[in-house]
Amino acid sequence: MKQKLIVGNWKMNGSLAANQALVQGVLAGMQGLNVRAAVCAPAAYLASLQVLLQGQTALSSGAQDLSMHESGAFTGEIAAAMLREFATRYVIVGHSERRQYHGEQDAHVALKAQQALSAGITPIVCVGETLAERQAGRTEEVVKRQLAAVIHTNGHCISEIVVAYEPVWAIGTGLTASPQEAQQVHQVLRQQLKAATPQADRVAIVYGGSMNAANALSLLQQPDIDGGLIGGASLKVSDFLAIMAAASQCAQAS
Ligand code: PGA
Repeated sequence: MKQKLIVGNWKMNGSLAANQALVQGVLAGMQGLNVRAAVCAPAAYLASLQVLLQGQTALSSGAQDLSMHESGAFTGEIAAAMLREFATRYVIVGHSERRQYHGEQDAHVALKAQQALSAGITPIVCVGETLAERQAGRTEEVVKRQLAAVIHTNGHCISEIVVAYEPVWAIGTGLTASPQEAQQVHQVLRQQLKAATPQADRVAIVYGGSMNAANALSLLQQPDIDGGLIGGASLKVSDFLAIMAAASQCAQAS
């Protein structure tokens, strides 16, 4: 099995002091683990994160959002090129909290992914159904529609993205998709990517939604689950490291 990708999404949490303690704890504990890892910080902390991560390659820096525009009169927005200046390697796009609270549509998400790719930053494209959509049997239709917009806009670069399947009902709720439920959706997304690129197997499709130390291994053992996007559990050194250890165990078992 290939190396898994474990990404922390700090959301709107942290402080200079807390981030330093968290990053130093994670770096110290992840030595020897066979895993690709990153943390996505609030934009205000990207400069300090760059300093904290200097001189090592185990943990990469990520952002949580970016502008769909290249530059110009867009007050409050942050351009891909600006993120790039702080050695940002990943950027989350289309997180359900952005879609829900900030009105982001599929077309916006597609343009954000495009901006990231053109700056050499890997977009982590989030897709996922709400509880009502799942109960109505619309899960596949929803996630395929969300991913299709990104494929349509980014065609030939699509093998450069990361996809995060995050069922909205599982985010921050303590409810998790069962490994089988998650695998089923990941398989659908893999098929969709395969129809778009011969390199679909290179695309990491990660799971997010209440992933924690206890459930990580069974999720990560699924054939199409290539990693995790971790919210709450990424804020505690021991929890985040336990998830990375599970990921490392899966990579070793291959
Ligand atoms: P959670 O968040 O792990 O706290 O459920 C995941 C996410 O929103 O990316």
